[in-house]
Amino acid sequence: MEPVDWAALERLRSLFLQPGATRAPYWRTRTDLASYDATAGQRIGWKWDAVLEELTSRRWTLPEGPIVDYGCGSGIAGRRVLGAFDGAPGRSLWLHDRSALAMEFARERASERFPRLEIRCSGASEIESMSSIGVLLISHVLGELPGKEQRRLVALARRAVAVIWVEPGTHADSHALVRVREELRQEFHLVAPCTHRSPCGLLAPGNEAHWCHHFARPPWEIFSDPDWAEYARRMGIDLRSLPYSYLVLDRRHAVASGDGWSRVLGMPRGYKGYSRVFSCDACGVRDLRIARRSFPEFMDALGETSGPRRVRWRTEGGDIVAIEAPVLSGTADPGPGTSSDSVA
Ligand SMILES: C[S@@+](CC[C@H](N)C(=O)[O-])C[C@H]1O[C@@H](n2cnc3c(N)ncnc32)[C@H](O)[C@@H]1O
Repeated sequence: MEPVDWAALERLRSLFLQPGATRAPYWRTRTDLASYDATAGQRIGWKWDAVLEELTSRRWTLPEGPIVDYGCGSGIAGRRVLGAFDGAPGRSLWLHDRSALAMEFARERASERFPRLEIRCSGASEIESMSSIGVLLISHVLGELPGKEQRRLVALARRAVAVIWVEPGTHADSHALVRVREELRQEFHLVAPCTHRSPCGLLAPGNEAHWCHHFARPPWEIFSDPDWAEYARRMGIDLRSLPYSYLVLDRRHAVASGDGWSRVLGMPRGYKGYSRVFSCDACGVRDLRIARRSFPEFMDALGETSGPRRVRWRTEGGDIVAIEAPVLSGTADPGPGTSSDSVA
């Protein structure tokens, strides 16, 4: 880890925990941004890695046109996207933040890593009057915006070819993203996490307590790094837990979607001999039961943070009775319509 200013991080942490405190600008010095970038920014970067891994594995491609990082902070979202797409040849990076200090920091960091990239720091009116936006990146910003600013951001999203939006995996942030999804679902293809375009199943009566969240996996090296241990101690966080919510929208037919896919929300809950999973598909959000005896290999994979989350399974009542995809490595592909890890 790069050297950090613990006092700066502690000040930021206490602001992030106070409702409403982040409505006022809070970046005071370059050191604030560098310390954030080396710690919380890295953790956010691992969430972006998880989202981008799903997108690249599904052969999603960057649209033509400028990449806009809105509320860029230290600029981690833009750098992760550029890194995942070989520096995004032919695109430019537009950084926007209410803090000029943040935009300048993000610009420096991006240009160190991608020296040939055209990078601009832009005010809100410049961003809003762009003639085209390729992909709009939004990361951990929604909770800081009052209602009017949120509406402006949704209006900006409407002007982009694609939107990748990542927020903390809390109940409140997930439901805020669900509201955005409901506003935009008729205008875009829903690439992820949704496997369907019907109204979000979380809005059905009885599902109020649930939320659409996922977990990223931090690199194992951090667990033997004394600086990360110090960070976890001072911030009062568990380094292993990296929950996030996200939404990827695209006007193009950007990836094959296909029917019958479900998304696992959160982590499976283990019981003796079986697990329960919240599964979301066009029929809604259901709490399904999966028996270990029937699917031992699949359940081991599902229990991993980076295990399968976009799945195609057959159910009877509340039970999963066949898993059609993904076919796990080491298991013979049984062909369409049959179980890869079949019922015993
Ligand atoms: C928690 S930080 C996230 C930074 C970065 N996107 C990331 O994921 O690490 C939120 C950022 O949103 C910016 N922000 C807050 N309100 C804003 C607004 N109305 N317009 C533009 N940026 C804003 C803040 O200055 C801050 O840099």
